[in-house]
Amino acid sequence: MSRALTVGFADPGARYRAHRVEVDAAIQRVLDSGYYIGGPEVEGFEAEFAAWSGRAHGVGVGNGTDALRLALTACDIGPGDEVITVAHTAVATVAAISMAGATPRFVDVEPTHLLLDLDALDGALTEKTRAVVAVHLYGHPIDLDRLLAWCRAHEVTLIEDCAQAHGATWRGRPVGGWGRAACYSFYPTKNLGALGDGGLVATDDAALAARIRRLRTYGWDADRVSHELGVNSRLDPLQAAILRVGLKHLDGEIACRRALAARYARELRDVPLKLPVVAPKAGHAWHLYVVRTAHRGALAGHLRAAGVGPGVHYPLPAHRHPAWRDGSALPVTERACAEVLSLPMHPGLGIAEQDRVIEAIGDFFQDIERHPEDHDP
Ligand SMILES: Cc1ncc(COP(=O)(O)O)c(C=O)c1O
Repeated sequence: MSRALTVGFADPGARYRAHRVEVDAAIQRVLDSGYYIGGPEVEGFEAEFAAWSGRAHGVGVGNGTDALRLALTACDIGPGDEVITVAHTAVATVAAISMAGATPRFVDVEPTHLLLDLDALDGALTEKTRAVVAVHLYGHPIDLDRLLAWCRAHEVTLIEDCAQAHGATWRGRPVGGWGRAACYSFYPTKNLGALGDGGLVATDDAALAARIRRLRTYGWDADRVSHELGVNSRLDPLQAAILRVGLKHLDGEIACRRALAARYARELRDVPLKLPVVAPKAGHAWHLYVVRTAHRGALAGHLRAAGVGPGVHYPLPAHRHPAWRDGSALPVTERACAEVLSLPMHPGLGIAEQDRVIEAIGDFFQDIERHPEDHDP
């Protein structure tokens, strides 16, 4: 009989429980302030997050999808333009490109880190290519030196999708500083999560930041005159105040994620799972700890029966969703989608809980060794 799931791959409520007094005080501050749209909490968070991530400007928006969409629009990328990206990502990455009016052009991922395959870029380049949206998937940065060199050589704008990469670094520098804009999500399970939706564009380009500020509020200037078609996508002051609390604890929480990842790597090293590999110049932020196995379905079922709830990021690549159905041949992506399994990874995960995950995985593979005939992938 299955046990109730007690160890999930994420636990957004844990962060609130850990910082309840500070979060409650932050919410009360907003309620008392009378600022329910914009105002000092939003401006304070924008400045604090921009500084934390090493950028000059931060523009809060409603969610990470809008951060990407508005960044693309602000870079004048839209109808008739092609944007290179991956299908092995949250569909939000691709939705943002389509919402901006541009056409996503999918390239495969490389098999080691499951990030955009830089060797595939030349083959995807056309006279319509205007941008690359690079996803630092799972919290592992892409090789930003190579990617930026390619973008510069071909006069293509680089936008970094940092939704899973708060705290990741490349050559010791925070991600988000190579592209023209870095787009973050504060979905509750992210490394920095709100208690609802939230997003932000970080950039060093003052004009770009100003345009995104305009686009997020109906295209308005200071006199409330719409100069272009904008949207309503603002960071909520309640979420901004909550995120200011989260930001104070973020470095410590990323350190926890790193310790948990090191422990998984140590304890699972003899198990026949493909464990995540970290590139030498990468500082992984461990948003997700993703292993790969041909026995994914059976292992996930076994973990659930043991009370552990793994995740799958992602079971269906974007180009196979009916919304895009695109004939691209992406064999590494397709294979990854069949094999990836996200183990519990969040700062509230206790050692005893992690031990349960490790033990359950060990039991599963011991059973395969004893009864291989029952476990044909
Ligand atoms: C890689 C990636 N890009 C974009 C997004 C979109 O963020 P949001 O859910 O805040 O719109 C997400 C979050 O799911 C994501 O993981």
